[in-house]
Amino acid sequence: MEDELQGMEEAVPLRGGARSDVRDEVRDQGDWPAGPVDAGDPPPPATAQEAVPPATPPAGEAAESEPSEVGIEVEPSEVVDEAPLNAEEVEESPEAAGDGRMRAVDLIAPTRLDFLAEKEAAAEEPVKTAEVIAFANQKGGVAKTTTTLNLAVAFAESGYRVLCIDLDPQGNLTMSQGIDPDKVEKSLYDVLVNDMPISEIIVKREIDIAVASIDLAGAEIAMSTKIGRERSLEKALKEVQGDYDFVCIDTPPSLGLLTINALTAANKVIVPVQCEYLSMRGLVQLQNTLKMIQENLNPDVRIEGILPTMLDSRTIHAKEAVEILEENFGDLVFQSRIKKAIKFAEAPVKGASVLKYDSGSSAANYYRELAKEVLANGTA
Ligand SMILES: Nc1ncnc2c1ncn2[C@@H]1O[C@H](COP(=O)(O)OP(=O)(O)O)[C@@H](O)[C@H]1O
Ligand SMILES: [Mg+2]
Repeated sequence: MEDELQGMEEAVPLRGGARSDVRDEVRDQGDWPAGPVDAGDPPPPATAQEAVPPATPPAGEAAESEPSEVGIEVEPSEVVDEAPLNAEEVEESPEAAGDGRMRAVDLIAPTRLDFLAEKEAAAEEPVKTAEVIAFANQKGGVAKTTTTLNLAVAFAESGYRVLCIDLDPQGNLTMSQGIDPDKVEKSLYDVLVNDMPISEIIVKREIDIAVASIDLAGAEIAMSTKIGRERSLEKALKEVQGDYDFVCIDTPPSLGLLTINALTAANKVIVPVQCEYLSMRGLVQLQNTLKMIQENLNPDVRIEGILPTMLDSRTIHAKEAVEILEENFGDLVFQSRIKKAIKFAEAPVKGASVLKYDSGSSAANYYRELAKEVLANGTA
């Protein structure tokens, strides 16, 4: 038996001096490691039969062959395959191959090594949260509410899950979905002032809508003494942010605390502008407010686009106003144009968006075009 083993061993080429040392040492002990060594487990005892390959391959072939299951060809490089450690470190400690001593690789907790793989997995599957768009312009009557609702419904038509937020105490958005703000029991007032979960005030209509009530007018004063008063809406939205693709916030015609809450919660701002020279002057003031918000509350918020609304393309004045807008704001001005149409005044009376009130109208298509443009611009 001993002679047989001796003969077979001579036929099996070994790689490197260190390797034969290891083998001699291990053979002396009567043990042979069956694969990469785990310091926690003692190497299993092996019979002489297992200790050598069953058939002796020709010398050249054996040198190139892959390590066998039986574990004869235990090499530092195999250890590298098992654990994501750098090869140099392992090769520096050839004794690791079989003397049962702790190696550097074993001293590192598995969780420390795993962190790389975990990071990769997280990058592949980012947590999907809603795109939050605020519709803002401190001037009234520029189609903020009209744009919030109809763009939101256009997103919904394309299959997106949309939540509208009526942050204007006048409650026009709430009304334009057929809900009377005077009869609403729980509203954004309760969310912003009393920290009520926003899910409790969401009503399902063409889109989901977090409703306003008349007492929202008192919210700015009630919130003014609250710590973190600018972040009340941002905080409230966390509850539902995973449930929607878009959150569209209609704001009041001022740059007060309600609008600041909207801009702090938002990733993007769409600025509807009536195509008249006078209504464009307020844009500088809006930009200053936004700069203040970026510096202090929400560095990521940016203007998604300036939207020319109520365009009467027959008048030279409207044409000139759009030109001035483009000269001053360049690419920030949307390609889409919202032309004047009586349907926009009629639809809210019926408690519907223009897309529902007259689905095939060109008025409805203005907002479908805008939706395409916003979607094409990509998500934040
Ligand atoms: N493209 C349009 N053509 C004609 N009327 C419009 C258009 N867009 C909005 N309106 C009407 O103008 C008025 C003001 O619009 P609204 O969306 O309430 O503005 P804001 O919210 O900025 O105060 C409303 O009566 C609305 O129906
Ligand atoms: Mg409005």
